[in-house]
Amino acid sequence: MAMKQVANSAIKAIANSGSSSLLTRQLHASPGSKKIVGVFYKANEYFTKNPNFVGCVEGALGLRPWLESQGHQYIVTDDKEGPDCELEKHIPDLHVLISTPFHPAYVTAERIKKAKNLQLLLTAGIGSDHVDLKAAAEAGLTVAEVTGSNVVSVAEDELMRILILVRNFVPGYHQVITGDWNVAGIAYRAYDLEGKTVGTIGAGRIGKLLLQRLKPFNCNLLYHDRVKIDPELEKQTGAKFEEDLDAMLPKCDIIVINMPLTEKTRGMFDKDRIAKMKKGVLIVNNARGAIMDTQAVADACSSGHIAGYSGDVWYPQPAPKDHPWRYMPNQAMTPHISGTTIDAQLRYAAGVKDMLERYFKGEDFPEQNYIVKAGELAPQYR
Ligand SMILES: NC(=O)c1ccc[n+]([C@@H]2O[C@H](COP(=O)([O-])OP(=O)(O)OC[C@H]3O[C@@H](n4cnc5c(N)ncnc54)[C@H](O)[C@@H]3O)[C@@H](O)[C@H]2O)c1
Repeated sequence: MAMKQVANSAIKAIANSGSSSLLTRQLHASPGSKKIVGVFYKANEYFTKNPNFVGCVEGALGLRPWLESQGHQYIVTDDKEGPDCELEKHIPDLHVLISTPFHPAYVTAERIKKAKNLQLLLTAGIGSDHVDLKAAAEAGLTVAEVTGSNVVSVAEDELMRILILVRNFVPGYHQVITGDWNVAGIAYRAYDLEGKTVGTIGAGRIGKLLLQRLKPFNCNLLYHDRVKIDPELEKQTGAKFEEDLDAMLPKCDIIVINMPLTEKTRGMFDKDRIAKMKKGVLIVNNARGAIMDTQAVADACSSGHIAGYSGDVWYPQPAPKDHPWRYMPNQAMTPHISGTTIDAQLRYAAGVKDMLERYFKGEDFPEQNYIVKAGELAPQYR
């Protein structure tokens, strides 16, 4: 059982290190009523517009009646920043924190240190980089996400963003709302997707779905990953493996980022890497903003080296008013939305409920959901 494994590994760690902090944490974990805190984005007037809108503060993942009927305390907020925020008030005595990448509650080492009762960090969605995973592992916490819950949502969105950039859609839309009509202003840099070389960096669940969706567009498909995809899928999609990322970059007309934010991928696309890309490259990044060097992207968009950049992930989130990506030319950015469609919300709400149920019973989670388990990070985060 996951929690028991955590307890055992904590005891082993103490025996090895002589430290008492892990033991203290485990001794605070008592059976019975738990304090669960959820941090989500607020819906305000939009909440009543759709009965399935569960991913917001008001919807609370649809968990409130169930949790409260079992005697648990469930606090939900969007107030996550600064020393006086609502989240901070509950840090000292919460047992479970449910957070979401769409409105990330940054779980720093400092917060983990203060959270003496905390056992479990659940991500409603995919991508737990808003948690200091090393600090969580050292503290004997379990971190898990709803793996696979919104991969279709993101792959579909990426396909849309590729087409938006290739066809130069955004300036055309702006012309319509500003009362203009200038075909040339759009057409001079609008292309077909057919025949272009598209490379995905990261070909996990989302990357593979994107490759399958791109297949009918008759592109040249490339992928770079730590691991090769199944030969059958390679055959089906025609995607070619590129072991050397730097050798792949100059071949691509369009680059899509599909790997997690880890210590290895943070800032991976800096000025030098971007310089290796083809002049006029289009980039779609729905993975994580911090995989890119923010200013290097803005500069390359200004110089025209990057001819278009689209994505929904930023650092930090919400993006401040002065974030350079808001003002760079040829961008088609949105707030973080691709993985929070109503369909995705229902899936990740169900996944969170399933893990809470298992946690209350002391049972393991589906193996692929673990990001930190028994003091160890999942392989791609190491
Ligand atoms: N925008 C959104 O709403 C949204 C929603 C879901 C996921 N995401 C992001 O997308 C990421 C990918 O999701 P997924 O479900 O496809 O995950 P996944 O774990 O199925 O796939 C990730 C892939 O990246 C590869 N990878 C990891 N580190 C690498 C490295 N250093 N170099 C090359 N390849 C590397 C892995 O081998 C794996 O194949 C998530 O981690 C998350 O950050 C964003």
